[in-house]
Amino acid sequence: MSKGKVYIETFGCQMNIADTERATSRLQASGYGISGEAETADVILFNTCSVRARAEQKVFNRIGEIRKGAGASSAPIIGIMGCVAQLEGEALFGGGAGVRLVAGTRATDRLPDLIERALNGEEQVLDLGERLEDEQWDVPVVGRHSPYVAYIPIIEGCNKFCTYCIVPFSRGREQSRAASEIIDEIRRLSDVGYQEVQLIGQNVNSYRPKTEVGLEGFPGATPFSRLLRAAAATKMPRIKFTTSFPRDFHPDIVSAMDEHENLCDWIHLPVQTGSDRILRAMRRGYKVSDYLSRIDTIKNAGRRYALTSDIIIGFPDETDEDFEATLRLVEHCRFDAIYIFKYSERNGTPAARLANNVSDNEKANRFLALEQLQKGIQKKIYADYVGREVSVLVERRSAKSDLDMSGHTTCNKVVNFPGAENLQGNVVSVRVSEAKANSLYGKMI
Ligand code: 5AD
Ligand code: SF4
Repeated sequence: MSKGKVYIETFGCQMNIADTERATSRLQASGYGISGEAETADVILFNTCSVRARAEQKVFNRIGEIRKGAGASSAPIIGIMGCVAQLEGEALFGGGAGVRLVAGTRATDRLPDLIERALNGEEQVLDLGERLEDEQWDVPVVGRHSPYVAYIPIIEGCNKFCTYCIVPFSRGREQSRAASEIIDEIRRLSDVGYQEVQLIGQNVNSYRPKTEVGLEGFPGATPFSRLLRAAAATKMPRIKFTTSFPRDFHPDIVSAMDEHENLCDWIHLPVQTGSDRILRAMRRGYKVSDYLSRIDTIKNAGRRYALTSDIIIGFPDETDEDFEATLRLVEHCRFDAIYIFKYSERNGTPAARLANNVSDNEKANRFLALEQLQKGIQKKIYADYVGREVSVLVERRSAKSDLDMSGHTTCNKVVNFPGAENLQGNVVSVRVSEAKANSLYGKMI
């Protein structure tokens, strides 16, 4: 007999998707049903993101929508988990949204009990506590977001405290998962046919487990490069990792990637700005020249690595000159893709004490100018793929055409091609015939 049906809606990054998977597995193990839709659920959980104000607002809009749809008769229990929960805590019970459960970023394993208390009539169930000492990070195969690609958290939290960022507050201090557990999980996923794992964390290359059990016999200048070599030694066909922090991006990571083809040819290395003055104000802990030397290592490596980055525009006091330095950096690095964010002031961060003094209008202009520059660069990079053969992990029907299937290359580019549904989960070769702005098109060979 099911204890009740839970529906979880996820916002934000891969870490939140991984937490939802973990919550799902813990709830199923405790006898709860998992519902694919809000309408039939007894409990609706929102797994939230607070990295920018807009992301946060989206959650509250969505709660309003769902409450309207539910009507008064079948009012489900509404709960908030994830980063907004951790930051806002008790305050979420007020405000008229009817929230009855608030579970912080380290409370995922306690969700079954928390929900039970809410179902038993407790009006305000709150847990902002720490992880349990003997906690297991493992997630069984059931309830994962994809049967082909698995996210594997290897480090949680962040110690970097970039001045604009809320993550160290919402996710807490860095905590690395035991290496043996990670390697075991990759092996298990490989045994049941997973084609790709993505090692995830706010800063994967800051990985530093308390003991290195499981990494014996694997060389490397840092625990992360040792972990990569140990992961490569499993039979997993594709291993990707994100996000890397520039200061901790040891050249040995690139050496490990050069040595092992199943360590995929993609590196996400957020630079945030091309101005030393702004980097200092952001307290990123590196200079433009440090970043560029990392890029040199990557560009001079044994094979071509796709390179992507994040950039914030409109940080307090960012001048035209600062922004032009960012344009120059982007021009120089020739990223395969960049994610541009308008600076968003987050309460409680050091940067929130500075005047948010770049106007919305100026932010919009800088956004467009940077986007325009990147478009031109990307066009050339993507055009270079035409005529080449790429390996594609087929993941789903294309959203744009019923005749096409869609997947990713090892370098994390989206590829669409005509094909049948039964190709899903296979790695196929595609000859690229056309380059679009953000994807490639081709024919299976
Ligand atoms: N405003 C804008 N962008 C931000 N990011 C993090 N915090 C903020 C903020 N306050 C961006 C950074 C980071 C990405 C995940 O989100 O670029 O790399
Ligand atoms: Fe935020 Fe900086 Fe940590 Fe990334 S490294 S999560 S930007 S504080």
